[in-house]
Amino acid sequence: MAEDISGKTGGKAGGTATGPFRKIEHIGIAVRDLDEAVARYERTMGTSCYKRETVESEGVDTAFFRVGESKIELLAATRDDSPVARFLEKRGEGMHHMAFEVDDIHAEMERCRMLGCTLLSETPRPGADNKLVAFLHPKEHHGVLIELCQAI
Ligand code: CO
Repeated sequence: MAEDISGKTGGKAGGTATGPFRKIEHIGIAVRDLDEAVARYERTMGTSCYKRETVESEGVDTAFFRVGESKIELLAATRDDSPVARFLEKRGEGMHHMAFEVDDIHAEMERCRMLGCTLLSETPRPGADNKLVAFLHPKEHHGVLIELCQAI
């Protein structure tokens, strides 16, 4: 059995206990052409996109695929000044964020704020796929933009 190096005590035997991040809810991938990307991912993953949704407040068009208990979210910009458009301009296509499911997004935002994480918004915002979402800046997480999400 692998050794639990978390330093925590009181977890379940076998190191199966997790923290307040319940699971990787989805991984977000920034793409230039959503239709083309959906067709490509449908072929490769052997499954159909189950939802497409535009979140106008974030300037983003999204498409979702199920992968076991996680999802893939393809993201394309709906306008040139949206965060995803700026990401594509700077870094090109590729992995954009990793989303963790939490039970209480307000509590988790506060917990992360107390730890010194930079939050990209003061309060949770409505995201795609019936979620409240908030983002943690990538600079404190080794280059990864982290999304906290709670089902609504
Ligand atoms: Co997301």
